[in-house]
Amino acid sequence: EKGGYDYFMLKEIAEQPKAVADTLLGRIDAAGTLSLDEVRIPGPVLREVDKVVIVACGTAYHAGLIAKYAIEHWTRIPCETELASEFRYRDPILGRRTLVIAISQSGETMDTLMALRHAREQGAKVLAICNTNGSTIPRESDAVLYTHAGPEVAVASTKAFLTQLVACYLVALYLGQVRGTKWGDEVRSVVRELSDIATQVDEVLETMEPVRELARSLADKGTVLFLGRHVGYPVALEGALKLKELAYMHAEGFAAGELKHGPIALIEEDLPVVVVVPSPRGRSVLHDKIVSNIQEIRARGARTIVIAERGDEAVRPYADHLIEIPATPVLLQPLVATVPLQVFACELATARGNEVDQPRNLAKSVTVE
Ligand code: M6R
Repeated sequence: EKGGYDYFMLKEIAEQPKAVADTLLGRIDAAGTLSLDEVRIPGPVLREVDKVVIVACGTAYHAGLIAKYAIEHWTRIPCETELASEFRYRDPILGRRTLVIAISQSGETMDTLMALRHAREQGAKVLAICNTNGSTIPRESDAVLYTHAGPEVAVASTKAFLTQLVACYLVALYLGQVRGTKWGDEVRSVVRELSDIATQVDEVLETMEPVRELARSLADKGTVLFLGRHVGYPVALEGALKLKELAYMHAEGFAAGELKHGPIALIEEDLPVVVVVPSPRGRSVLHDKIVSNIQEIRARGARTIVIAERGDEAVRPYADHLIEIPATPVLLQPLVATVPLQVFACELATARGNEVDQPRNLAKSVTVE
């Protein structure tokens, strides 16, 4: 049932192009516009929404952090993303005009379920993004957009994450479409870009041997840091989470701009630091800033592992290891940038002799608070 792979995780990483394509399937009509019939929250209600709150845990929370950038950029509705486990305990401000999005692969995560129950009690509408048909979270929500990743068996989430991102982008576009902040042409062009992602993920998967080799060479390290900016920041958090749960290594993700506010003190000779570089196109200011961050940490001895868009020559001189990914629109980069980090963590776990599909102390779905 592992389809010839040693681990479910490897199989699930390989299934990502299909999972991404399947999650788009049937949601785009012949004219290239979005038809999300499943989102049964009526147009007038969606047009009234004045705040979006995303609640989720772990990897799904990282998808939610990325969704915030897309939702605010495309719809201009304020959006916050919150750890589901913290949500109801701080008496959040919710009302009839709040749209809460609960993201969960399993649909059974108790923290997320309790957060959405609290939101509904306060009168908010809840949209679930979920991978498991008929599970509790979608049953208790006002509407659901299912991700079509297929069953995810490995405890470490991979293909579910990519499809959660796709679903979040679709919801963001849909909200923009319904509210008129995104016009047909713009929606169609993003949808086209999303449709190209499956092939691009495939391309990334075909070039992963150097990443595996690098991972093996780091098997005896104690710490790995991850840096990113903008949507690359949650990608850095996700890279660090994968490494913690699979390799049992100390791994931390930082927003690169925060380096000078503390974390740079951690940099020492030969410390591996993975840096997710934003596209040099579009937001080039951020790109240039992160290039200086790479220079700064390298000058202090860090071993720089740089994930950058193919053809980004500016980073090359400062990258001890360069992992190239295809060029994507700025907001969609996490869909390709996360994949090498999954492969990296999986290979490190294997090199350290850890159980890849069933890391110690963890369960696939966390049904207690
Ligand atoms: O089933 P859910 O998406 O609600 O699960 C949320 C987290 O427990 C989950 O993403 C967890 O962090 C994974 N093990 C990460 O790989």
